[in-house]
Amino acid sequence: MCGIVGYVGNKNAQDFLISGLKRLEYRGYDSAGIVTLDVKGEPTLLRAKGKIANLEEKLAANKRDDTIGIGHTRWATHGEPSEENAHPHRAGEIFLVHNGIIENYKELKEHLTEHDFKSQTDTEVLAALINSFYKDGKYSLINAVVQALKLVKGTYGIAVVSCKKPDEIVVARSGSPLVIGIGHDETMIASDASALLGHTKQAIYLNDGEVALVTSNSVEVKTLNAEPVSAKVEEIETNLAAIQKGGYEHFLLKEIMEQPESLKETLRGRVNLEEGTVRLGGPGIPEAELRQIKHLVIVGCGTAYHAGLLASYYIEQFTPEITVETVIASEYRYRNAYIPENSVALIVSQSGETADTLACLREIKKQGVKTIGIVNAIGSTIAREVDGGTYVHVGPEISVASTKAFTSQVIAMVMFGLTIAQAKGVKPAILKPYVKEIAKLPEAIHDTLENAKGEVEEIAKKYVDYEHAIYLGRDTAYPTAMEGALKLKEISYVDANAYAFGELKHGPLALIDDRFFEIALVPKGELYEKAASNVQEVLARNGHMIVVTNVEQFDLPVERVIRISDEIEHFAPLLMNLISQLFAYYTTVAKGYNVDQPRNLAKSVTVE
Ligand code: F6R
Repeated sequence: MCGIVGYVGNKNAQDFLISGLKRLEYRGYDSAGIVTLDVKGEPTLLRAKGKIANLEEKLAANKRDDTIGIGHTRWATHGEPSEENAHPHRAGEIFLVHNGIIENYKELKEHLTEHDFKSQTDTEVLAALINSFYKDGKYSLINAVVQALKLVKGTYGIAVVSCKKPDEIVVARSGSPLVIGIGHDETMIASDASALLGHTKQAIYLNDGEVALVTSNSVEVKTLNAEPVSAKVEEIETNLAAIQKGGYEHFLLKEIMEQPESLKETLRGRVNLEEGTVRLGGPGIPEAELRQIKHLVIVGCGTAYHAGLLASYYIEQFTPEITVETVIASEYRYRNAYIPENSVALIVSQSGETADTLACLREIKKQGVKTIGIVNAIGSTIAREVDGGTYVHVGPEISVASTKAFTSQVIAMVMFGLTIAQAKGVKPAILKPYVKEIAKLPEAIHDTLENAKGEVEEIAKKYVDYEHAIYLGRDTAYPTAMEGALKLKEISYVDANAYAFGELKHGPLALIDDRFFEIALVPKGELYEKAASNVQEVLARNGHMIVVTNVEQFDLPVERVIRISDEIEHFAPLLMNLISQLFAYYTTVAKGYNVDQPRNLAKSVTVE
């Protein structure tokens, strides 16, 4: 989604802004722009539709040695992707970049008749509104911003500069992240700390409702009600290597292959193999309270939702007298659902910034329900607003399609379930096999990826011309199939859907023909025979089926069988999901599409 950068200091601002915007490219965008000011406040505004390379072309003819400026990558919400709609937007002497959505922009616009609007954006309305307070000199830049923001409904992370003050940037946030990087005689701002790496490790994370006046050697933070805030300077935890491709052609493949290591990070210090127990410090729920838990609500979007769904199957397997409901955040936030007593809500989000998930968190908190974050991005909004949490610690996920986060989210939630089961006194004999498998998973993931890579690449090339795919699974393999279908559709644009095997004859079976191929996830276990019968049903209709299984003697006449090791039993679907991830990756490479930045999508969805 949109990205913000800003610089004030003693170095070349254009250089910082362009390199910072490139770091934020992974979030997804369709236009970009920067403005810098010279010492007299003379602005150089450059904007371009499409990739940052287009902006760089313009920059080549407009190089300046200005030392202050702001920049933006835009992911269109109001108005198509175009140069006019790209940020920064100008009103009078001020320039503004903005992430988020100004919900009451139409109403505000009606009163801003003096401004000659050039774009269709809500952002230009905010620029004009700030300027209406600023232009007569009655308010300083920061106070004009504050006056304007008091009238705004919606979400924002903003950065503003004024030609009259070419040594200060004003930033503010409500619902959209903003980080201020503290350097030596230079201060940088960004919507994501990755843009600051290599420049500084010291940062202030702005909170909702805060506004800051930033110069090259000072940062003053206050609330919109003018109360001063003593902001905490924190260490940025990510490093540069984590956001580089490290020899891989695409971030997606790097992140798929990183899973043995990233899962080890999730497990570090949390698994006691000898005792067969897990220990999570973050949630901070006393044992007596854990014993009382009767109901879990798991909230997420997209892949995070699928992770929650899969985890719910496991938690119900080993925790007595508990119900688990996994919900899609964008639906749940408007459902007015009653959450019974003795419930805990797990809020699942890689980025920790997803607008719908954040809205659910706030709704759930209003009901007095304890909220636990299953989050990756350290210091993100969700991580800060939950009552307690478990970071998954997989490191930055740059590719838009989520992979390593999924695996670790599932295991982190399973560990939370085990923590409840332990407190409720479930026999170690029941829980130990799960714990043992969790400890074995990083190695099994490593082996599965290494063994399957070549084969999956070859199969993906063979099926590359199909436009429709059906993923099938039962029990824990069903949410896994859903995740597989999502991965394929979002990066290769193959129309992929998942069905529970048992649902086939209630409708989807009618689809089977030569335009479709099917990927069935068939783990061993109690339901194997049933899944095998479902496979037969598809074969009887001449389906083109690929089966992923850990059953050694799988001998049905399907087109391809991808065998994975049977040493992992309960969590075999997680290994099968690696096959789906590789399949989506190699299909997309074979089609020649942009693997890491699929069309129309953004990494962190900070608008509703
Ligand atoms: C799919 C994908 C998305 C995200 C979803 C939630 O590959 O990446 O479906 O899972 O947008 O994002 P987070 O986890 O950041 O809340």
